[in-house]
This record gives sequence, C-alpha cells and structure tokens, in this order.
Amino acid sequence: MKQMIIEGNHKLKGTIEIGGAKNSAVALIPAAILAKGKCIIKNVPNISDRDALIDILKLLNCDVTLESNILTIDSTNLKNAPIGAELSNRLRASYYFMGALLGREKYVEINIPGGCNIGSRPIDMHLEGFKALGATIETHKDKYILKADKLIGTDIFLRFQSVGATINLILASVYAEGTTIIHNAACEAEIINIIDFLNNMGANIKGAGSSTITITGPTKHHDAEITVLPDRIEAGTYIILGALCGDNLCIKNIIPAHLEALTTKLKEMGANIKINNDSIIISETKDLKPINIKTLVYPGFPTDIGQPMSVLLTQCHGTSLFEETIWENRMGHVPSLNKMGAKIKVNGMSAIIEGPTKLTGKEVIATDLRGGAALVLAGLIAEGTTIITDVEHILRGYENIVTKLTNVGAKIELKEI
Ligand code: EPZ
Repeated sequence: MKQMIIEGNHKLKGTIEIGGAKNSAVALIPAAILAKGKCIIKNVPNISDRDALIDILKLLNCDVTLESNILTIDSTNLKNAPIGAELSNRLRASYYFMGALLGREKYVEINIPGGCNIGSRPIDMHLEGFKALGATIETHKDKYILKADKLIGTDIFLRFQSVGATINLILASVYAEGTTIIHNAACEAEIINIIDFLNNMGANIKGAGSSTITITGPTKHHDAEITVLPDRIEAGTYIILGALCGDNLCIKNIIPAHLEALTTKLKEMGANIKINNDSIIISETKDLKPINIKTLVYPGFPTDIGQPMSVLLTQCHGTSLFEETIWENRMGHVPSLNKMGAKIKVNGMSAIIEGPTKLTGKEVIATDLRGGAALVLAGLIAEGTTIITDVEHILRGYENIVTKLTNVGAKIELKEI
C-alpha cells in the first residue's frame, strides 16, 4: 500500500509533458493480437493498467518487450487461455480481450472485469453486440464464456454511445464475414486511434470519429505500428492545476482540439490561458467566475475531467453547479474535499459548489482514479500537509505523477506503508 504526502500552497512553474492516453493504450494493447504478427505501439504510458494488460498477453503466450515507452507485441504463437479473476480484476479494460479473442479465436473465457467504483458499469451492450455477430454467451458466477463457429457481419444499434462497447464490437467484427455497421457509436478521439491501428494491420474500417462505423471483414492482417495519442484527461487535469496554482505552467504534447470542452469553460470562468499548437500555458487567476458543468459524451465536457474540475469550482467566486450524466457514482471525492474545507452539497449525480473556500491539508482517501487526481489538486493548493491513502487508484492512470509534479515545483512524495 502506498500513500501520497503533499505539502501544499506552492506555485508551479515549468513544463509538464503529457504521455500517451490511458484509455487508448488499454484498447490498443489487446487489439494487437488481431495482427497475428508483430506490432509496435509507441508512446505507451507508464501506468499500472499497462502492466496488467502485459501480464494478460504473457498468459496468452505472446512475446512482449517494453523499452521505455515502446511496446512490442508478437502474437504469432498465441495460445488461448482462460483469463482468471486475478488478472481480469486488475482493470476495466481487461474486457477488450473479449472482443479481440472472440474475433481471432472464436472462444473466450474471462472473469468479470475490474475498474473504478464509479457506478454499476454493466456490459450488456457489449454482450448484445457479440450475440448479434453470432456468438453464444454463457454467464457463470463470475465468469463469461463466449464462443462462435463463425462471426457474421450485421447491423448493431447501441442505445448509448458507449466507448467500451464501440471498441469491443469493432475488435470482434474485423474477422466477421461481411459488413458490420455500428450505429450510435462513440466518437472519442481514442476510438480513431484504435481504428487507425486496426486499419494499419489490414482491417477495413470506415467512419472513425463519426457515430456510424462500418467494418468489412474478414481481412488478412499483418505487422503494424501505431503511436498512442496524447492523454487528454491527464492534460486536462494538469491544465486545471495550472488554473489553481500555476505560474505560466506549460502543459506540452497535447492536441488542443481534444480539450476544447475544457478550455471553453476555463475561458468562460476568466482563466488566464494561452493555447498554442501543441501546448497550453496557464496561470493562477484570482476572481474566477462560477460556472455550470454538465458532463456529456465526446465532444461534450468529459466525465473523466469532472472531478478534477470540481476542485477549481471550489475557488470560484460564487455558486457553481457540477452535473454528472454518465456515471452514478462520481462524487466519491466530495467528502474528502469537504473535510479539507470545501463547501459542496451533493444531490444524486449533481453537486452545488460554493466558492471561494480555503482548503486545509487533511488525511483523505482516493476512492477512484479521477477522484484521487482531484484530491492531489486539492492537496497542492491546501494550507499544510495532505496525506492521500489508496493512491493505487491514481497510479493506474497518471504516469510518473510524482516526478512530473516535483519537476514543476510541487512538494509531493510517495511513501510505502
Ligand atoms: C470509458 O469507460 C473510459 N474507460 C472511462 O474512463 C470513461 O469515463 C468512459 O469511457 C466515458 O467516457 C476506458 O476507456 C477504459 P462507456 P467505458 O461504456 O467504456 C453505460 C477513467 O477514469 N453502459 O462509454 O466503460 C455505463 O454504465 C475511466 O479513465 C451500459 O449501460 O464507458 C455508463 O453509464 C473511468 N451498458 C455509460 O454507458 C454497457 O454495455 C458510458 O459507459 C456499456 C456501458
């Protein structure tokens, strides 16, 4: 078990380089087995979710090498094997092996996936889609067995633009016979990254970035390369940090178009922000205006930046509203923020935030990845020392967070307890 100790109230200055996107990397890694050859994935973030997926690849007899942030996966000699609870529970994205193995092997045995406790997280749309492609699904106590003689392309209508279901169904359908059309598909930038990778290995997928994705299969695949796109959520978290306590803090290696929902809100609040081609420079701004935030699917305000943003709302002059629409349980960080001095009232999936409030260091608990990141931001502006426990949640998704923050002047350390 690790804890994070933060001495707050220091101005942050310098440059934070953003790594590859977690939510892209965690799908690209399982997708690599669809090449049936050697894949090189560049700019892979150094996070514990990456390590969990590598362990699953090794279980499946893939050759894996990691040098710095370049991951090479050779799945030529893949041997299918049940993915047990110990591995599948380590992260949500273990479920991308459902689509990838069903596509390649027509058989998958996997325990239910893990992930953050931010809601009930059903996977009914994934399973319905696999069935529509011709798979049969047995559900045992904690385990799914998916099998098919062959998969046949079909029309799939998603009732919600689910990121995970869109990606999983694309993975399963590249080896399906005929045309699969996914209607009401998610449009996140990460999905374009996955489709580019699959097309690089020989797949025939059209419509990336739109809500209608057409996959024509089966295609013959070969070795391929891809670079993980920059992590817009990591970037968004540090941009918010810049608005809280930055002194010309530069957030570099980003795609500003992917962050427009956030930067538009920051401008509306009156934040001191300068947007360049691949970086944003941001400083602490006094007298920030209160605003209303409602999380939505892409290109709306990302649910994954809502919790970090709630910390900035505690520093606005007046009453702000933070409304979550994707996950039922995105307010796990609020009791900790209130313990530190924030005035936040939660009502179901919404929170009313009164500001500005002075925050004071306390011992708090990271209940989930983004809620944990919110506590890091709060600790960095608080008077005194903040101790965050259960930081494993944070390390799942923010690469080298302590080093990146220390390099710009933060007083933060990780301690084994
Ligand atoms: C991805 O989760 C991300 N995770 C999440 O990021 C992110 O919050 C989410 O997309 C939305 O942007 C990964 O990419 C690994 P969804 P995912 O399927 O794919 C409901 C983070 O902090 N739903 O788009 O699991 C679901 O309950 C993580 O980095 C069903 O009802 O999200 C939710 O209300 C947390 N049935 C909504 O759809 C299904 O079969 C959106 O879920 C699938 C989803």
